Amino acid sequence: MASSPHDDLVDLRSDTVTAPTEGMRAAMARAEVGDDVYAEDPTCRALEERVAGMLGKEAALFTATGSLANLLGVRALVSPGSEVLCESRAHIARAELGAHAAIFGVTTRTWAHPRGLIDLDAVHSLLAPDAGPYFVSTAAVSIENTHNFGGGSVQPLDSMRKLREIVAPVGVGVHLDGARLWNASAATGITPGEYAEFADTVSVCLSKGLGAPVGSLVAGTAAQIEEARVWRKRLGGGWRQAGVLAAAGLYALDHHVQRVTEDHAHARLLAERLAQAAPGIVDPATAETNIVVLDLAAAGVGPDASEVAGRAREAGVLVSVLGPRALRLVTHLDVDEAGCRRAADVLAAALS
Ligand SMILES: Cc1ncc(COP(=O)(O)O)c(C=O)c1O
Repeated sequence: MASSPHDDLVDLRSDTVTAPTEGMRAAMARAEVGDDVYAEDPTCRALEERVAGMLGKEAALFTATGSLANLLGVRALVSPGSEVLCESRAHIARAELGAHAAIFGVTTRTWAHPRGLIDLDAVHSLLAPDAGPYFVSTAAVSIENTHNFGGGSVQPLDSMRKLREIVAPVGVGVHLDGARLWNASAATGITPGEYAEFADTVSVCLSKGLGAPVGSLVAGTAAQIEEARVWRKRLGGGWRQAGVLAAAGLYALDHHVQRVTEDHAHARLLAERLAQAAPGIVDPATAETNIVVLDLAAAGVGPDASEVAGRAREAGVLVSVLGPRALRLVTHLDVDEAGCRRAADVLAAALS
């Protein structure tokens, strides 16, 4: 992290910045391990079985990152030269460095929604399952729940159901990027399994709101996951005594799932205080989970996003710059209510 004169730094750049807790480190230290490339790591197996069960899928595969889990999940549904449809600021489209195209020849067409939500009319008009010999055919739709750059927005279950009803009959699959599915679930009371029911492949992350240092999973049918295991190895993602990391994930599932509601309350607090300081910058009602996106243009804030972020950094508060006029704040395990209150004060001053 960049140096700062503050020891009470409040880091709201992402929920990936957390350090493993003492309890998690102890669980990692005692993990039973084996060689996972030989499928002999009992802790990896236990994590994969547990997550597959939670998601109601036949199997799951532990991966180093959410990007790799998405890559393998989309690959399972889309052949080279075909396309996946997604929202324009989806992580797979904006933040995976073109991996789906560069590695697997998958192209993307997008619809835009201010909060990253499913737009059924747009999907209807983009959908081209059998586009013939001159156009790209659609093989899957990917949705993100919660939607990161959409401000941690939760996809309505009914939209997911309807999406599945539109695409399944024409042989188009659904991938669910559930990096923060735990947050969606905590916010709505809808279980991860109920969300996953409307997707063929699902990725989830343990290293975001749940506070594990590393790790994601992709889930699907046994055949899809068997193939994903081969592709993970082919891409250099096979790992050996990875049970040390899987133990952190199991610990996170046992201890850190319910507590994400605290992060949601902190995000709401930030949104409310900043909406007071700069009306129009965010609608607090949209702070559904642990991410708050600030729209400096809508609030008529003078300085641009990097200037505001720079001023906040000087005062010991770190935030992400999403664009010239947009900032993102993410709450997590390592920031408490007092930290959020301080961050709100610092940001309110930095915005003026
Ligand atoms: C929605 C979403 N999907 C996938 C990822 C990728 O996770 P990773 O950074 O582990 O590759 C992220 C990372 O922030 C994310 O926000």
